[in-house]
Amino acid sequence: MANSPSGDSMTERIVRVLETFTAERSMQTTAEIGRRAELPSSSAHRIVDELVAAGLLERDEDRRVHLGLRLWELALRGSTALRLRQAALPHMERVQALIRQHTQLAVLEQDEALFLERLSHPDAGANITRIAGRLPLHASSSGLVLLAHSPAELRDRVLAGPLRAVARETVTDAARLRRLLSEVRRSGVAVAPGSIEAVSTGVAVPIRDAGEVVAALSVVLPREMPPDAAIAALREAARAIELALRADRR
Ligand code: PHB
Repeated sequence: MANSPSGDSMTERIVRVLETFTAERSMQTTAEIGRRAELPSSSAHRIVDELVAAGLLERDEDRRVHLGLRLWELALRGSTALRLRQAALPHMERVQALIRQHTQLAVLEQDEALFLERLSHPDAGANITRIAGRLPLHASSSGLVLLAHSPAELRDRVLAGPLRAVARETVTDAARLRRLLSEVRRSGVAVAPGSIEAVSTGVAVPIRDAGEVVAALSVVLPREMPPDAAIAALREAARAIELALRADRR
């Protein structure tokens, strides 16, 4: 693809434009996009116009731009994330009905836990995750499960830091984390009290497909709630999801 005078390719520029959108910043003017993507104004206008024409971006009456529905449609087409979410959803609903707390599904994506789905409950406590949002691997219960079963090379890279303290009780000591991860592999569950927020405990179990851990299923419990019922419900759901994934392969 043709390069711009500054040497970056058109693809790189388009990716930079799309990456200026975040959960907190879903609407922007073209000038803001250009500034954040470090593009000259004329390039920003041209790229945004072309992406709007293709439906990947949409523009409202105030000329503010947001990510287009077409992007969502294309991203989900044949996606492994969608297959996983569809296999998991009925079993997540069972966990959520039983435990009456947030139930979520996460996968490993570029050294973070990316949340594919989250079911909430009217009585549920605090929870900072959101669908299509991310949490650090070392801090969240889902992240600990994914990290525990990740290739050694990724684990070494993450443990080499920096390990950010999301809350006061986040484990940021690499040696302690290593012990925690082998305990997660041994016990088949991660329990992370106060690691993301002082008021809650994350509880997560692995989900395997063709022998590999492909996701983590978790609940966020109020800190005072014992985790035993949640662990049992999560384990049963994980088994059912694994069977659904196996049936889907045939
Ligand atoms: C967790 O997965 O450990 C977790 C996630 C969100 C929270 C609390 C804990 O709000």
